[in-house]
Amino acid sequence: MSSQKIGIVGSGLIGRAWAMLFAAAGYRVQLYDILESQLSTALQELDRDLHSLEEKGALRGKIRASEQFALIEVTTRLEELTRQAVYIQECVPEILDLKKSLYSQLDELLEEQTVVASSTSTFMPSLYSEGLKRRQQILVAHPLNPPYFIPLVEIVPAPWTSPSAVERTHDLMLSLGQRPVTLKKEIQGFATNRIQYAILNEVWRLVASDILSVADVDRVLSQGLGLRYALLGSLETAHLNAPGGVADYFKRFGGEISAVSATYGETPNTQEDRETLEEIARQCEQLVPLENLEERRATRDEFLTQLARLKKQFE
Ligand code: NAI
Repeated sequence: MSSQKIGIVGSGLIGRAWAMLFAAAGYRVQLYDILESQLSTALQELDRDLHSLEEKGALRGKIRASEQFALIEVTTRLEELTRQAVYIQECVPEILDLKKSLYSQLDELLEEQTVVASSTSTFMPSLYSEGLKRRQQILVAHPLNPPYFIPLVEIVPAPWTSPSAVERTHDLMLSLGQRPVTLKKEIQGFATNRIQYAILNEVWRLVASDILSVADVDRVLSQGLGLRYALLGSLETAHLNAPGGVADYFKRFGGEISAVSATYGETPNTQEDRETLEEIARQCEQLVPLENLEERRATRDEFLTQLARLKKQFE
């Protein structure tokens, strides 16, 4: 258990999730937001969510919900947030100019020991840290939604981020029970979205070419590949799928992989291909009407908890 102070900037969906992860591990958490109303809503929801997780037996950490909640406080003053914080997790909306202006404010206030990580899903850390005095202390720690149930965190350094900031973030994530991966250098889309977009592109092409319906193309993942990938990555899957391991796999199937890959065609233009988008939306909404999205998300999260437990046993 630690009593180190963690600052969180932005008390929306992701800021609250981080608050819960840090409090579960015994850190003192201070949440900062420009909107006081957001902070009071955040506190109410955190209190409710922590107790409801406890009732379901899904609360993380070794201390009770009420003790975790007591570790979380709020502030509307950035200079209070930065004071004696060992680490700050930034969770403001995904608008580059907003991030830039926040980081230049933080630059004036940050203490030497504080690492600042952005939750951004899209912006490489160099885009908002270049030119700052404290740029060595800034990087990305990108979670996947919902972070409480999905352990992956992508740590992405800018070219000037210090190795010790990377290492401290990595160790901190492990102390929360998250599973960090560290990119050796920044790249657009990081790793998760690069892989996710490759899948989305091919799924789009299969629907646009009228080869599979939305329900069926999703089944390929949810009833097939996804079950393997819930346990193993694609390379270990390949390693297990040939008698002589991964080298043998690529020797046997490499030719076919190249031949199929050559038929993929253009990257879909998902913004301009209105016809395919409308068809995908129509079929998706037949499967899950928009008014049921919230309920479906809640069900997913509930089952993710169980899957996470099973996965721990597997590991
Ligand atoms: P959100 O809109 O739910 O919350 C943003 C919060 O930031 C709000 O409480 C808002 O009042 C506050 N805020 C706005 N300007 C601020 C400022 N200057 N200083 C302090 N607080 C400010 O957004 P969400 O979804 O939590 O996203 C936050 C970050 O997390 C984004 O960078 C996003 O890309 C990233 N992320 C989001 C995921 C998601 O599924 N929503 C998944 C992974 C990362």
